[in-house]
Amino acid sequence: MAVIKVHDKSFGTYLSEVVIQKRVKEIAENINKDYAGKKPLFIAILNGSFMFAADLFRHLTIEAELCFIKLASYKGMKSSGKVITSIGLEEDLFDKDVIIVEDIVDTGKTLHKFLPKLVHQQPKSLKIAALLHKSEATTYPLTLDYIGFDIPNKFVVGYGLDYDGLGRNLKEIYQLV
Ligand code: IMP
Repeated sequence: MAVIKVHDKSFGTYLSEVVIQKRVKEIAENINKDYAGKKPLFIAILNGSFMFAADLFRHLTIEAELCFIKLASYKGMKSSGKVITSIGLEEDLFDKDVIIVEDIVDTGKTLHKFLPKLVHQQPKSLKIAALLHKSEATTYPLTLDYIGFDIPNKFVVGYGLDYDGLGRNLKEIYQLV
């Protein structure tokens, strides 16, 4: 296991680039099947989901739209539990097939608090694709439709995910050691 340092903490390799890319492709293939003949709108949640969204989108063969929004709720290694901002959602969701793209679902609070805002706009359907799910930590009721990996309740960085701003550029996902 390769160990790297981000700020003051050590992280060990957890999911390799090959493993991540294979799984992202599988999710895209499932979406291609499930949304055949439709034209879903992907709403990717910044900052963490930018890599997942880009790789997922690359593998889509259906027609699809993509937009990015920002909901900041996390500082350092502890979730503040608060949704601070929600900016960038200009699309009208009425009658659209919407897929939320999230890097990681931890407690589930962020999406649980945010989803009613989307439901309010009466999309035709609303699904969630999350690359990582810390299912042991999820206490808010949330249905995840596409999950990359169910992971233990340990802090992770890489592939878009940060620890205090750093680590997003890593191609692999690393776990706190
Ligand atoms: P939740 O509201 O508790 O589900 O937290 C979701 C957000 O917390 C994610 O979109 C991430 O930004 C952040 N987060 C949760 N766990 C981790 C982690 O292990 N590493 C990096 N960010 C995390």
